[in-house]
Amino acid sequence: MEYCELIGLAKKAMENSYSPYSKFKVGVALLAGSGKIYLGTNIENASYGASICAERVATVKAISEGEKELVAIALTCNNPEIVCYPCGICRQFLSEFGNPDIIVTKNGEIVEIKKLSSLLPNSFSSKDLQ
Ligand code: THU
Repeated sequence: MEYCELIGLAKKAMENSYSPYSKFKVGVALLAGSGKIYLGTNIENASYGASICAERVATVKAISEGEKELVAIALTCNNPEIVCYPCGICRQFLSEFGNPDIIVTKNGEIVEIKKLSSLLPNSFSSKDLQ
């Protein structure tokens, strides 16, 4: 799977964004350990705190379908001026399931590819609970 293909799928996923409040559409495509791809988009709620980011939607889909590891995730959004990085909660959420490549884009073009661990140094994890 080429990472540019993943970006194309992420853009497609963005079309399903439910973001009537922020109008900020996010689309992601997540490559999981099995080789399957899971799409995600942000889903907002009138009770704003109940909203969920695209990255966590895709992760929930993957893990609930039996995936054990996240390999790579491409992020896109509908503002061509914004460089799309995952928010802090999503960084933590993703880190539970490996150290995927984060494919950071701007206006659908790759800006950089970062290991999640480099975006979440000194992270809290299961090892801290032993
Ligand atoms: N959002 C994401 O989907 N992913 C992120 O990493 C950052 C923020 C969504 C949540 C909300 O629906 C909208 O973007 C504005 O915060």
